[in-house]
Amino acid sequence: APVVEATSEGISMAADILRRGGLVAFPTETVYGLGAAVFNRHAVARIFEVKGRPADNPLIVHVSSRAMLDGVVRDVPDTAGHLMEAFWPGPLTLVLRRSRRVPSIVSAGLDTVAVRVPADPVALQLIRLTGQPIAAPSANRSGRPSPTTAEHVVRDLGSMVDLVIEGGPTQCGVESTVVDVTGAVPVLLRPGGISKEAIERVIGRSLSPAPASGPARSPGTKHQHYSPACRVIPVEPCGWAEALLRVRQAGGQIGVVARTTPELLRETVAYYRRIPGDETEYARHLFAAFREAEDAGVDVLLVETVQETGVGLAVMDRLRRAAAVEDVRIYPEEAIRGN
Ligand code: TXA
Ligand code: MG
Repeated sequence: APVVEATSEGISMAADILRRGGLVAFPTETVYGLGAAVFNRHAVARIFEVKGRPADNPLIVHVSSRAMLDGVVRDVPDTAGHLMEAFWPGPLTLVLRRSRRVPSIVSAGLDTVAVRVPADPVALQLIRLTGQPIAAPSANRSGRPSPTTAEHVVRDLGSMVDLVIEGGPTQCGVESTVVDVTGAVPVLLRPGGISKEAIERVIGRSLSPAPASGPARSPGTKHQHYSPACRVIPVEPCGWAEALLRVRQAGGQIGVVARTTPELLRETVAYYRRIPGDETEYARHLFAAFREAEDAGVDVLLVETVQETGVGLAVMDRLRRAAAVEDVRIYPEEAIRGN
């Protein structure tokens, strides 16, 4: 796919392509998105094709303003309004009642629609110039880690997109938080860039957890997700010695993503990355590390767990999905036997 810099010429070229029904990958503050003009159902259908995305997994609609939102949703409940004021533009996606103007394919047939105002100025300018909202999932092949650089997009989707806007590495590194505000109680469907705690402070109550099944559950969360081409094994900070021992016995190339652990392992593994700092920093680099480990030929990637506070909740959600395990406290032996 052609790649353009995020200059005003580049962005207006991209908007032209979207207006004519093409697909454009663009940076947001969370991850790169694969966009189509929301009112063009054929273009939206191509998103599902190009990603290999299951037809029952709805897309997020990106708008540049509250005014643009009016053409997309039927109403904005008070709670939703408060959250928009507090967190937009930013990595918070709200599920609202869908306007009939929005093609049902965008929402995979649901009568709700997920919407957000991205904080990245390139994304905002692209929406404004396109003159309508942009439907966009993350710009990866379905099931792969979300792309945090333009290069990740090119590697996954190559010639299948019409244009990629190069906007550098994304700020947040994990996707937006998804909250359903259509019912009496707001439901956290997917943890993400805005913390649960911050949302609860604004609404003055606790978010309900996503139900284990049923229509209120974010459909995308039931599919396997975020998996690099190597096995991922979460390791608690105190579990490194045991984890390495077990994994060495099983054989294969080992990779390590660590946060607190000293760099003792660096010389003895095929891939080593230390991400120091807090969970925000960890979130920013996690998906890139997955892909680097893949490139290094790693078979088994040991990834240090973080506390589930702030963005750490999103990090652990993605880590658990990548590893296809439910329990956070994974002991390597069980994880190995499980496969
Ligand atoms: O940060 C992000 O959210 C990125 C950037 C590009 O904006 N986008 C993203 O899109 O992560 P995607 O398609 O990878 O994830 C969208 C999530 C899925 O879990 C999907 O099931 C959920 O949002 N979703 C979308 N519409 C929904 C709806 N109407 N009801 C419930 N969940 C919905
Ligand atoms: Mg995605």
